[in-house]
Amino acid sequence: MQSSELRQKYLEFFKQKGHSIIPSASLIPENDSTTLFTGSGMQPMVPYLLGEKHPLGKRIADSQKSFRVLDIEEVGDKRHTTMFEMLGNWSLGDYFKKEQLNWIYEFLVEQVKIPAERLYATVFDGDKSIGIPKDETSIQILKEIFAKYGIDAKEGERIFCYDVKKNWWSRSGIPQNMPVGEPGGPDSEIFYDTGAELKKHENSLWKNEKCHVNCDCGRFVEIGNNVFMEYKKTLNGFEKLAQQNVDFGGGFERIVMASEGTDNIFLTDLFSNIIFKIEELSGKKYLENSKPFEVVADHIKAATFIMGDSRGISPSNLGQGYIVRRLIRRAIRFGRQLGITQNLWTKEIAKIVAEDYKNVYPEITENLEFIIKNLDAEEEKFAKSLDAGLKQFECLDCKDVITGKDAFLLYQTYGFPIEMTEELSREKGLKIDLEEFSKESQIHQELSRTASAGTFKGGLADSSEATTKLHTTAHLMLAGLRKFLGDSVSQKGSNITSERVRFDFAWKEKMTAEQIKQVEDFVNSAIGKDLPVICKEMNLDQAKEINATGVFEHKYGERVKVYFIGEGEQNISKEICGGPHVEHTGTMGKFKIIKEESSSAGVRRIKAILE
Ligand code: ALA
Repeated sequence: MQSSELRQKYLEFFKQKGHSIIPSASLIPENDSTTLFTGSGMQPMVPYLLGEKHPLGKRIADSQKSFRVLDIEEVGDKRHTTMFEMLGNWSLGDYFKKEQLNWIYEFLVEQVKIPAERLYATVFDGDKSIGIPKDETSIQILKEIFAKYGIDAKEGERIFCYDVKKNWWSRSGIPQNMPVGEPGGPDSEIFYDTGAELKKHENSLWKNEKCHVNCDCGRFVEIGNNVFMEYKKTLNGFEKLAQQNVDFGGGFERIVMASEGTDNIFLTDLFSNIIFKIEELSGKKYLENSKPFEVVADHIKAATFIMGDSRGISPSNLGQGYIVRRLIRRAIRFGRQLGITQNLWTKEIAKIVAEDYKNVYPEITENLEFIIKNLDAEEEKFAKSLDAGLKQFECLDCKDVITGKDAFLLYQTYGFPIEMTEELSREKGLKIDLEEFSKESQIHQELSRTASAGTFKGGLADSSEATTKLHTTAHLMLAGLRKFLGDSVSQKGSNITSERVRFDFAWKEKMTAEQIKQVEDFVNSAIGKDLPVICKEMNLDQAKEINATGVFEHKYGERVKVYFIGEGEQNISKEICGGPHVEHTGTMGKFKIIKEESSSAGVRRIKAILE
């Protein structure tokens, strides 16, 4: 089945079930300071889930263009992209579990023709502390659905139950992180069994357990999530919303992949024309060079969608524009790696994206001139300096540390986004002094008084609310690491954007799943306690006397700021730091470690997010 047919079938299926089909909202959210891009179909639906009347009724469906920069370094594993479409359907106080689960499995099995035995389900296990029971209703419904297809769906084999960490959904994650007034509820996810070998199982956090759907060995892929949004957080726990809602989100590219029985979204028609074009431009074959192909394909596609949006934006050094710049420049670098030598080639891919999506997202074609102009300008700016910059980087290769000055030179003179220099350093096993880079870029800004470049304060990409929250999170995480791994743990660097925190620390071995969980629980418990964050100025000696953690102490002057998280007996972190931080931990969201890996000898790197 062609992808366009599948998208149409989904919308048609729900139309027949009484849904109004609405167009995708903009990728650039309106009135939402918490996120730079629309990353799920429900974001534009929040007012209606809370009870506002939708002009088109109680049943809505769409296909929403979505972008998650967080996944940028996951691209290259056949199934991750930064840009994707989310198939969505909503019941706004209308149908509930029975209809939703029956319909969505009917769609997947009978319309898309995914064999039922390849599908697995998860269900909410209940949580006494918030008085919300195990979702037995969904288990019963799912058993009946699977029985229809001749499958005896046993718990622990076909249906897996998980706690709030996996099977509760709200914009701010687990129940205790939800602000008062926020809607949320138990969910039931749908997994597709790619049948892939368990070859990566040894890297899994669950390696000592039986393989199950949330295991990360690569065999199972989540393709959809049914959220039963019927609760609202109040001052004293949870109460039912005035209406029972359904919020379904399905990963379109992955459903297309499953419909074709493959385990690679880049082999579907959503990417094939782009892949052919890259083969033509580079003279190389996709299957022999999958990672750089996937990076180029995804990044130029994502940049094209963002620039081609009705609120389209140009590459720049700020906010969404900076993300577009990073996407394009990273694609150019990977294109160079593939041997693409032609000038101004990225627009060739944009033209294909516009053509492929002309019937679904015509705004891309309408804005094609603007997109091409931006791509050409960005490529002109960057392609020339890329080679010289890479040469310059090679000169640094004989050192073990890329100094902040080196990184700043690459940024300033050769246009290397700092993330690119970090990535190059990682590829070569070199360390990079991000703190000094921040300082350098600040000094430079003060000298030249240019307000336009990013500020990178203390490893921060900007001073937005989201970045600030992650900065406070980094302090909590260091405190947690020191508590569970020992006081010898010290921070080696950090890089914080509005999407995630990347945190390097001295430690010799891989953290165990247990240790990761302990640190996560520690941080989430601190968030749950809504601790105050207090800044005190003192002399460096005083700071040392009270045992404040000081990451790059030697660089600080006599007077330093120390940030305390929690007062008196509740104090769990004191760290010398320039800020900025949140005033209270309560509103930060749900903390999650998404990666723990080696960064260089004796240094581990954690990537973590707030959901
Ligand atoms: N809003 C739900 C999600 O993004 C469907 O997973």
